[in-house]
Amino acid sequence: MAKQTQFMIWNEQAIEQLAKHIQAGEVVAFPTETVYGLGADASNPAAVDKIFIAKGRPADNPLIVHVADKEQIEHYVTDIPEYAKKLIDSFMPGPLTVVLPSNGKIADNVTPGMSSVGIRIPAHPAAQELIREANLPIAAPSANLSGKPSPTSAIHVFQDLNGKIAAILDGGTTGVGLESTVVDCTGISPKIIRPGGVTQAEIELVLDCPVEDSTTDLDIDKPKAPGMKYNHYQPDVPMILIEGNQDFFQSKINQLQAEGKKVGLLVSEELASNLSADQLQICGTVTNLSTIASQLYQVLRAFKKTDVDIVLAEVFPAEGVGKAIMNRLKKAADYIEKAENDR
Ligand code: TXA
Ligand code: MG
Repeated sequence: MAKQTQFMIWNEQAIEQLAKHIQAGEVVAFPTETVYGLGADASNPAAVDKIFIAKGRPADNPLIVHVADKEQIEHYVTDIPEYAKKLIDSFMPGPLTVVLPSNGKIADNVTPGMSSVGIRIPAHPAAQELIREANLPIAAPSANLSGKPSPTSAIHVFQDLNGKIAAILDGGTTGVGLESTVVDCTGISPKIIRPGGVTQAEIELVLDCPVEDSTTDLDIDKPKAPGMKYNHYQPDVPMILIEGNQDFFQSKINQLQAEGKKVGLLVSEELASNLSADQLQICGTVTNLSTIASQLYQVLRAFKKTDVDIVLAEVFPAEGVGKAIMNRLKKAADYIEKAENDR
């Protein structure tokens, strides 16, 4: 049944209203510094269920619990290893999630079948105000329909979830633009299990030792059979990653146009100035990859079936935050095509 979704600009009254919804077991969307979150009381299983229903999210995918300060982390875990304390002190509040052994106080369906819980302290003041006002731990995945790019503005949330949740808090465009880095802190040493806003180099600098990145890079060298692809961050039309110089890129555009296809491009400023296609979406500059991170999802959402048949996207350097950018782009794309001399 469709709900009336309140759309509210961030102010004191809006925070009070959203906090009441959370306390009443409802689901609300709010800004964080990474992407918009879809939050509910993490100690109330019926409220948590509503998150999975609104998003159409598979029930076995665990949610991150959002708290307002470091002391609160201790309420939900049995043990915090020394290295995790260092990470918490250095990067929280901020775009980092630590996975720690759970003490069972969080509802079971937040971390289905798992003995650990992922916790993060968002840096966005609206998120902090909401958690404090509700005075509850807030379970929150990204506030998109499952399979779509994560929302970096309240309008994206509205497009995906209007009529399905109690309220949306508009706090403007998020800054980082990609989700938090998730670090598994349940073992003797840390493991990065999702690249994100905090880079591997930043983590290694703080811990003063090499840190394992166990993110599995998707093999998308060959097109998969329909339905076999990991379904995440997808634009409205098929997308192919292009690895090669600008001549290779332009030859691919020409080839598709010769087949009668309208071609959209997702590229940096640098590449854009040398290519011509039917639609151009510039997502930042390769001289500063965080500009690309902050605009990537908005650009993925901007391509519409009515304008283009296919999107060709640039392969960015997988260094620093580029690792998270390429992790998301590979999940969003159908496959990657490489120039012969790059193989
Ligand atoms: O930046 C973010 O992290 C955003 C904002 C809203 O905070 N949230 C977010 O949540 O990205 P979501 O649900 O889209 O991603 C949660 C991911 C899971 O898919 C899983 O990879 C990891 O975090 N995760 C959460 N809890 C975990 C656990 N106990 N063990 C292992 N991985 C976990
Ligand atoms: Mg997500």
